[in-house]
Amino acid sequence: MRVRRATLADLPPIAAIEKASFPDPWPAELLAAYFDDRHALVLVAEDPCVVAFLIARTESSSRRGRVLHIHDLAVAPSHRRRAVGGLLLAELISVARRQGVPRLGLEVRVDNVSARRFYEHYGFQTVQRVARYYDDGGAALRMEHDLEGPSLGSWVEGLSARSRSRPASSP
Ligand SMILES: CC(C)(COP(=O)(O)OP(=O)(O)OC[C@H]1O[C@@H](n2cnc3c(N)ncnc32)[C@H](O)[C@@H]1OP(=O)(O)O)[C@@H](O)C(=O)NCCC(=O)NCCS
Repeated sequence: MRVRRATLADLPPIAAIEKASFPDPWPAELLAAYFDDRHALVLVAEDPCVVAFLIARTESSSRRGRVLHIHDLAVAPSHRRRAVGGLLLAELISVARRQGVPRLGLEVRVDNVSARRFYEHYGFQTVQRVARYYDDGGAALRMEHDLEGPSLGSWVEGLSARSRSRPASSP
């Protein structure tokens, strides 16, 4: 499993994973726009084909300072529960540290329980509930991960070993 920066050539598999992962997938044109955004970062995990992606943007607010904000993240259904999402987060954290960005942030649907468990597993904490955040009126949880906290190192270092050790056919 390898994580790397995506190029526009990765758009078809990214769009396919998006479609397989969400009931209301973003269209390919919207995903493509991130490749023209100099504040955006698009990562893919490949095994050897692209099996997951993560899109984040560096953003800032006067109240919270700079944050790497996760806009989209999905793992192909065939590759879930093998720490692939965690590997993408680990790479995002490396980028944040190189850029001196102290925090990761995101919004997740309140009813997306698996994603909430995933982010909690990797140390994100809910900081706010936002009613009617989505176009369909659904609520979101705003979650953050403080990268200056003490407890991060062990899981980041353990991840690549874990992802290598799981065979492709395991559930
Ligand atoms: C959420 C998602 C990215 C997780 O990716 P993943 O590679 O399967 O996650 P990991 O293997 O790194 O999971 C790490 C831990 O998160 C938790 N977790 C992950 N998926 C979970 C699920 N479906 N139910 C409960 N807990 C889950 C577990 O604690 C898991 O550890 P374990 O496997 O040892 O029990 C993936 O399920 C996905 O693509 N979902 C659809 C798209 C989506 O909802 N994206 C998030 C949008 S905000």
